[in-house]
Amino acid sequence: MKILVLGSGAREHAIITALIREQPRPTVECAPGNAGIAAEVPSVNLDPNDPVAVTDYAVLHSIELVVIGPEAPLVAGVADALRARGIAVFGPDQAAAALEGSKTFAKRIMDEAGVPTGRAVRAGTLAEAESALDEFGAPYVVKADGLAAGKGVLVTSDRPAAIAHATYWLEHGGVLIEEFLDGQEISLFLLSDGQNVLALSPAQDYKRALDADAGPNTGGMGAYSPLPWLDAEFGSENAFVDEIIDTVALPTVRQLATEGTPFVGLLYCGLILTDAGIRVIEFNARFGDPETQVVLPRLVTPLSSLLLAAATGALGGHPRPEFSSDVAVTVVLASENYPQEPLVGREITGLDAALAVEGVTIAHAATRLDGDTLVSTGGRVLSVVAVGATFAEARARAYEALGHVSLAGAHFRTDIAARVA
Ligand code: AMP
Ligand code: GLY
Repeated sequence: MKILVLGSGAREHAIITALIREQPRPTVECAPGNAGIAAEVPSVNLDPNDPVAVTDYAVLHSIELVVIGPEAPLVAGVADALRARGIAVFGPDQAAAALEGSKTFAKRIMDEAGVPTGRAVRAGTLAEAESALDEFGAPYVVKADGLAAGKGVLVTSDRPAAIAHATYWLEHGGVLIEEFLDGQEISLFLLSDGQNVLALSPAQDYKRALDADAGPNTGGMGAYSPLPWLDAEFGSENAFVDEIIDTVALPTVRQLATEGTPFVGLLYCGLILTDAGIRVIEFNARFGDPETQVVLPRLVTPLSSLLLAAATGALGGHPRPEFSSDVAVTVVLASENYPQEPLVGREITGLDAALAVEGVTIAHAATRLDGDTLVSTGGRVLSVVAVGATFAEARARAYEALGHVSLAGAHFRTDIAARVA
């Protein structure tokens, strides 16, 4: 099979790593990729957000499946254009991708489908925002309505800060005030063919920049999978997954299909396990980063068969994906000053020594080769992934590997997966 992956981050690197370890190995290309991806598969010099360029390339090169990594091509209508030309694509059309791009749309779909989520008010004026803040009380949850590259959500007990955030987003596309939900967060990925869904193994992401969940929200600083504490709550991972399929994923997918906007691709359910039960805090229309880096290394079922089945309406009756009993941990190495304005263009060394640690792989997030020198190009630079028989083992391996990597000014969290090790 000939597969084109769109994107340039650690998520896409992890997807490609999973695809090329299959037997037989599919032919994989990536547009545009990064230095780590280019070391494994050919890079295509193509704007992944240009529907015409991507479609022309896919037709010309007889691509059999396009896998869209990030949200930007989805929002730009790249999946629509590919489908219109009869090319199998894993990723929803623009209209269904609004599940991620518009919190108002997502809330309406959840309301119609009876999916449990936090109560929320879309404020049209500052006065409405203030009255919603007072109604829900502290801690305050203030969310940008549209895509905000991970910077749209503020959770704070500081009322002036909540009002400042609401004021900014009122003028930049809209704002939602939501009730605060307390509990463990879970990221669950579901493959959807528009009618049927299949769940992957759940993961937990660490969103805050600093240890002990201090500091600002980021795109994600680390993750682990599976979630051993789910067994105490639900009996087993499968029981948990089945509950989410029945109460969240299928109602959502069916509502979208009923409205004529079927969702074909990856339904990312961001969940909080509250004392009153599961609540959805967000949907994304793509694989999560860094959670993908811990879910896919554990996947035993060939990824390409799952993605193709989703893309071609063939998930119904497909067996549950199988996962290894190994666990996985990833720690993100971030640039100085991330998540504010990251300082980039710096040399990265020590990867060979890091990769020599047993069970370790490295997904590149933002790298390029400058001659023979590997340099950073963005906020999250590398995702160091380790598998092991236990979380203690996987954690130790990930941090040992990180100890070999040098990047001036870089930072990482030291407590990823500590709660399960
Ligand atoms: P989101 O972009 O919606 O995933 O939000 C980013 C992060 O903010 C989440 O991972 C949570 O940690 C936090 N968050 C979002 N909504 C809520 C909520 N209603 N209650 C508590 N925390 C929230
Ligand atoms: N790790 C969170 C996300 O991918 O949105």
